[in-house]
Amino acid sequence: PSARTFHDEVGGGPTFTKLVGRFYATVRTDPVLAPLYPQDDWDGAEIRLRGFLEQYWGGPATYSQQRGHPRLRMRHAPFAIGPAERDAWLRHMRAAVDSLDLTAEQDATLWGYLEMAARSMQNRFPDD
Ligand code: HEM
Repeated sequence: PSARTFHDEVGGGPTFTKLVGRFYATVRTDPVLAPLYPQDDWDGAEIRLRGFLEQYWGGPATYSQQRGHPRLRMRHAPFAIGPAERDAWLRHMRAAVDSLDLTAEQDATLWGYLEMAARSMQNRFPDD
C-alpha cells in the first residue's frame, strides 16, 4: 500500500490555503517584508507559495505546470534577503504554522523544512 503523502496527512489543500493565507495577511503589514512583494499581485504571490508548498509535500503538481522548475534561489535573487528579512519571514510563518492543528511530529517536519529553506534563500551576508 502506498503511504499517504505529508500533504494529505496534514489535511490537504485547505491546510495549505490556511497556512499561506495567514502568512500573507501579516506579511502584507510588515514594514521590512511588504515592500519586497508585488503590490498589485498579492493574490498571485499567495497562489505561487501555496502551490509550491503543496507540490513539495506530495500534493498536486500545479506549481510546476504553471511556473516550471522551482529554482527558488534564482527566483529570490532579485530580492535583498539578509538576516532581518529571513527572520521576519520565519516569524510570520511560525505564527501561521501555529494556527494549524498539527501534531508535534508534523509541526517538526514542516518547521524543520521551512527553517532550512529560509536559510538557503538568504542572499545578503553582512559582516558581523
Ligand atoms: C516568491 C520573498 C523565503 C518560496 C517570493 C517573492 C518574494 C519573496 C518577495 C515574490 C512574490 C511573488 O511574486 O511570488 C521571500 C523572503 C524570504 C523567502 C524575504 C525569506 C527568507 C522563501 C521560502 C520559500 C519561498 C523559505 C519556500 C519554502 C517562494 C515561492 C515563490 C516566492 C514558491 C514564488 C516563485 C515563483 O514561482 O515566481 N518570495 N521569500 N520563499 N517565494 Fe519567497
